[in-house]
Amino acid sequence: MSSTAITDSPAPWLRDNCPCAACRDPRTGQKLFQITDLPADLTLGAVREVPAADGGSATHWEVRWEPEGHRSLYPAAWLAAHAPATSYAAGGDGRTEAEKELWAAADLAGQLPEAGWDAYIGDREVRARALEAVGSLGFFLLRDVPCRDRMVLGVAETFGFVRRTNYGELFEVRVEADPNNLAFTGALITPHTDNPYRDPVPTVQLLHCLRNEAVGGDSGLVDGFHAAALLRSEDRRAFETLTRVPVEFAFSDARTELRAERPLIEVDPLGRIRGIRFNNRSLAALRASAPVVEEFYAAYRAFGELLLRPELRLDFRLTPGDCLVFDNTRLLHARTAFSESGGRHLQGAYADLDGLASTLAVLRRAGRGEGAQA
Ligand code: OGA
Ligand code: ZN
Ligand code: ZN
Repeated sequence: MSSTAITDSPAPWLRDNCPCAACRDPRTGQKLFQITDLPADLTLGAVREVPAADGGSATHWEVRWEPEGHRSLYPAAWLAAHAPATSYAAGGDGRTEAEKELWAAADLAGQLPEAGWDAYIGDREVRARALEAVGSLGFFLLRDVPCRDRMVLGVAETFGFVRRTNYGELFEVRVEADPNNLAFTGALITPHTDNPYRDPVPTVQLLHCLRNEAVGGDSGLVDGFHAAALLRSEDRRAFETLTRVPVEFAFSDARTELRAERPLIEVDPLGRIRGIRFNNRSLAALRASAPVVEEFYAAYRAFGELLLRPELRLDFRLTPGDCLVFDNTRLLHARTAFSESGGRHLQGAYADLDGLASTLAVLRRAGRGEGAQA
């Protein structure tokens, strides 16, 4: 490697990433200084390559900083992976459409991302692949999860932290005498994301099936990123409207009043699709000028029609022991109506993608080490 990775890097960036023990606490790896502690007129002084002591390939680059005189030593491999000129184009946190496998129903025919509970618990590779599927496809299906009360919380704890809400640690999806949500009736539920009225929204949802003897009550999933990408290619104006117009979602019952205002389609600073909020049940009255309301409704209808295309929707039936785990910022879920007299009972819970991604990263880190076991 030549010194250009160093000399092409902006000085404040390079200095801010000095890995020395005076700049980063060796126990925690956390930075010990503020940006304001660095001289504003910082420049690179002498730069030299420091060969690996054992003659191997692990060379470093040493920089002397002017005017402060501090010396920094950067591993060449770190520079190769992180220098702004090389890493920017590849940048991404795994959450946008750029790093997903978008799908329509036929793409998954006969090959759902699924695993049995015993294999998932007993084999870290099975567990890692299941968690990877949540990142790439947006979901995985665990089979043969014990049909025990509150078991859904145990499933969430295998990869993350349960997000408790006003519905409790878990919510019972069954016919209630006095429901505060249409989910707790036998009504058909069209494709939606859950709880868009929360900020932050729960990013992972679990649904564990304990009983499903009802006539009806089949499940559906739609890849919201794929649908939004289709909308962008078929009706760019509608897509842009849905990324721009903030919409309020609201929920209230005797004890709770929640609201959050966001666009239906969230894009990152580069314009890439990063989140979907779509829930006809909890959309509040839009407050905007008449032309914006008109424009929003045309776009909302176009996206709503697209989300109902049969070819986008993966249909399946949850049977007792199945636990669906999915990305609630990307996938929309649905169910068909069912007879209220028939027995159908799911337990649901929320968790978050950051905890899931952390569990996966640690599994993969351990998997690279020696003698990794379950
Ligand atoms: C829900 C929901 C789907 C179902 O509880 O959020 O959408 O299959 N339930 O009952
Ligand atoms: Zn330093
Ligand atoms: Zn739901």
